[in-house]
Amino acid sequence: MAERKEKTFKFVVVGGGIAGVTCVEQLSSNFPSTDVALITAGRHIKAVTNYKQVSKTLEEFDVLERPSSVLEEKFPNLTVIHSAVKSLHTESHSVETADGRVFGYEKLCICSGARPKLLTQDNPYVLGIRDTDSAQEFQKRLSKAKRIVVVGNGGIALELVYEVEGCEVIWVVKDKAIGNTFFDAGAAQFLIPSLGADKLEVSAPCRRTRYTTEEPASGGAQTFTADATPRGQSSGTVGPGSALGPDWHQGIVLHGAEQVSRCVSVEYQCEVKQIFTSEDQTLKPESVGSWPVYIQLTNDKTLGCDFVVSATGVVPNTEPFLHGNSFALVGDGGLQVDDHMRTSEPDVYAAGDVCTACWEHSPLWQQMRLWTQARQMGWYAGRCIAADVLSEPVDLDFCFELFSHITKFFNYKVVLLGKFNAQGLGSDHELLVRCTKGQEYIKVVLSRGRMVGAVLIGETNLEETFENLILNQMDLTPYGEELLNPNIDIEDYFD
Ligand SMILES: *[C@@H]1O[C@H](CO)[C@@H](O)[C@H](O)[C@H]1NC(C)=O
Repeated sequence: MAERKEKTFKFVVVGGGIAGVTCVEQLSSNFPSTDVALITAGRHIKAVTNYKQVSKTLEEFDVLERPSSVLEEKFPNLTVIHSAVKSLHTESHSVETADGRVFGYEKLCICSGARPKLLTQDNPYVLGIRDTDSAQEFQKRLSKAKRIVVVGNGGIALELVYEVEGCEVIWVVKDKAIGNTFFDAGAAQFLIPSLGADKLEVSAPCRRTRYTTEEPASGGAQTFTADATPRGQSSGTVGPGSALGPDWHQGIVLHGAEQVSRCVSVEYQCEVKQIFTSEDQTLKPESVGSWPVYIQLTNDKTLGCDFVVSATGVVPNTEPFLHGNSFALVGDGGLQVDDHMRTSEPDVYAAGDVCTACWEHSPLWQQMRLWTQARQMGWYAGRCIAADVLSEPVDLDFCFELFSHITKFFNYKVVLLGKFNAQGLGSDHELLVRCTKGQEYIKVVLSRGRMVGAVLIGETNLEETFENLILNQMDLTPYGEELLNPNIDIEDYFD
């Protein structure tokens, strides 16, 4: 293999997503006269724009798709190789591409991302959404659809069910509440009315102190409809330059074939038993009508629809790298990385969705495969690679001290901090909640009197204060429930 190497680069990064591109930018700007290669199959790369540091750890940015030439113009010693990776030979430090070329590396960073976990393989009626192409395919199929089934309870499912109009949506979640990845049952209840109404009434705050995340299960199905007129279709479609970023649906018309507005029903606590098409007549109960595809749930309901959206999480893209090598993999399928983003193979690093962070985490951080973490990991991996070649020390980046995420769900600003769902705390925690229907939902997770996490929905203006309280681990016992008293300006207490 070694003698076939077309060229050896000091640094090779695989993957044109946020992690890979950020890593390449970090390396190329640190080593402008060094040969760096980015291997990516697509003609376009993903670029971070409008980056904003909101607070110490919170950051916001948009993701754009750009021609890869933009990167090469910015970094003359960067080569973009347009091909998929076929295999990796860690022993000879070389990568073979699908078009049969072989490139050597001194340091390699794998940023190949993840792909949607599909309910079934090769069923033309089952769609996964992850990248721009699949989002466009979804939009196309939706425009002819009367009813779709969305399976999954993560971020993409949450956004989808809210954005789709003109088509009945049946939302299948395996949990007792919607948005389980991000919220508890209380926050879900706060958000649920948004599925049925476009105009939200504002009411007086209600406060609860002792609070359980074990809300009674809604059991069975709930249906929400809105009477709002469908939004105009003039907001444009996805063209070159748009991308599946944090706001991937912005500017994409998600409208079905019917002249109805949002109509969502939720099937709680069930999963998919089987999916079959109209040809499988034996499996089809008489009552379900005539649809292209049917989905049978574990609650024994059979639902017909035009197509099924599979939004049940992601699988790290590791396959091309594994054969012949001995990478340590984690249960979620990710490449194990240490606190220097090093995999178990020498001179091979990994960042973003493809990797699983296996260092001893800060008690206030957890990995979630989000855009923000892809950027942070790509950037940090670049720094680690640089430090390693220069034999310089590098400390774990501050961004891994505290989990923080800012996003939008159901048109509400959502800020998640630390152990926002009391992850890993067992019964050793207490929750404070303040909720004003249609306006804000604030939840604080306390452990031994210290704030360890928070969920802020709406324009609460509390993110910086809470971030500080979480970072400095101040004993909040003296404040008790006053912490969330709406008549006290909490910033005055602590600033
Ligand atoms: C590219 O690398 C060469 C040496 O390998 C160096 O002379 C040149 O300045 C580099 N280009 C830039 C823009 O840094």
